[in-house]
Amino acid sequence: PPATPQYRPAYHFTPAAHWMNDPNGMVYHKGTYHLFFQHYPEGMEWGPMHWGHATSPDMVSWKEQPIALFPDSLGMIFSGSAVIDANNTAGFGKDAMVAIFTHHDQVAEKKGTNKHQNQSLAYSLDEGKTWKKYAQNPVLKNPGIPDFRDPKVSWHEASKKWVMTLATKDRITFFASPNLKDWTKLSEFGEKLGAHGGVWECPDLFPLTLNGKTHWVLLVSINPGGPNGGSATQYFVGQFDGKTFTPQTTTQKWIDWGKDDYAGVTFAGTGARKIFLGWMSNWEYANQAPTSPWRSAMTAPRDLALKQVGSEIYLTSTPTPEVAKLAQPAQTLKNLTVKSELGLSDKVKMTSPQFQLKLSTKQLQDFAVVLSNAGGEELVIGYDKKANQYFIDRTKAGLSSFSDKFSGRHPGPRLATGPAADLTLLFDATSVELFADGGLTTMTEIFFPKQPFTQLKLRSATGITVDALTYAKLGNTLK
Ligand code: FRU
Repeated sequence: PPATPQYRPAYHFTPAAHWMNDPNGMVYHKGTYHLFFQHYPEGMEWGPMHWGHATSPDMVSWKEQPIALFPDSLGMIFSGSAVIDANNTAGFGKDAMVAIFTHHDQVAEKKGTNKHQNQSLAYSLDEGKTWKKYAQNPVLKNPGIPDFRDPKVSWHEASKKWVMTLATKDRITFFASPNLKDWTKLSEFGEKLGAHGGVWECPDLFPLTLNGKTHWVLLVSINPGGPNGGSATQYFVGQFDGKTFTPQTTTQKWIDWGKDDYAGVTFAGTGARKIFLGWMSNWEYANQAPTSPWRSAMTAPRDLALKQVGSEIYLTSTPTPEVAKLAQPAQTLKNLTVKSELGLSDKVKMTSPQFQLKLSTKQLQDFAVVLSNAGGEELVIGYDKKANQYFIDRTKAGLSSFSDKFSGRHPGPRLATGPAADLTLLFDATSVELFADGGLTTMTEIFFPKQPFTQLKLRSATGITVDALTYAKLGNTLK
């Protein structure tokens, strides 16, 4: 297919060419963020999986590095995590970067053994530049569960051991190890809880504090079965005692209600700060997305925190300060009264596909932010008061015929209460990320306009006063 440079994101990671899916092995080490990723370096569709590699000082300007892990006799390299083994528990060397990943054996899969996914190790002693696979792979063998993958490993300080959170078909299984090599089963979670519209994948388990109290968050991606169809990431807040995860409530929550944030997990090595990013696509149409010569990008990095609303504890996602630093001097419009429609193109010149919009109001009513172009295409992002939902409507936002699952208006509930609301929208060439009410409702969606959106307007059926609308271009130093 002809190249589509107009669709290339500037501050979202994408490989120069070829296929990408899940973020893998994210770890911060010696001032560098490492992002590995599911990659097929010979084609633009999913194929034999490798771990690609990229590095960044700030998670918004990425440098692609040589491929880290290649398929071998044990199989393809599926998703997994990386840790810095500061105490040399595995014996590979002090501060070894150790990748824990799933070996997916296609030959065994065809034979129907149900044992084709096993967990293996690789390590790097030069900050991720070169890698050696562990000679005694796999380290955690499959007992006969067809989906047995995506290990996320972290150091559990209280019990002084490594804990692996593994997606095992319709539940999570936790394992522990003193040395990353010998694993003992701890417990299972979720067989009868949460969303089960599809297989469980790419989990993560980490603590966050709220008002001085520690809570544990369990992320579980699910495909299909997301709230707007296809792939999405649910989460549970609860307690983890080193053995068992006990949720506060049995119903899942969603980290992102849009259609395009999947398989996201957090970086290792960032201390109490938990930084999340996901794959900005959906298995419903990822292989058909109209970009070339690459396919897919990651979301912007997000700081995760907890917030209580009523008796529920939710995750909030907010763009990291590194993203905010991309903002050029902002233009602020105050006290905008919107009755049906208010064009802003004479005030705000949209000269770049990379920009941030912030809106605040003391009295939240129906409203929409509309981006449009001379070709009559529009992307509509807003709030529906009657339904108490935010939404992204990409029905008329450009190309969509590549999949009948792509077009549509996709809602996400407003979880905050009270009349005052704030909204941050991050735009790149083919994506919008919505963070409403301090990140209580988050939505990520991609779109492919036939020409850039250059016009901005606000709409409101009921009328609304927007106290402040701030526009800032993001990153003129980026390509
Ligand atoms: C999630 C996923 C993982 C798997 C990988 C294969 O998108 O299906 O479960 O490890 O992709 O590329």
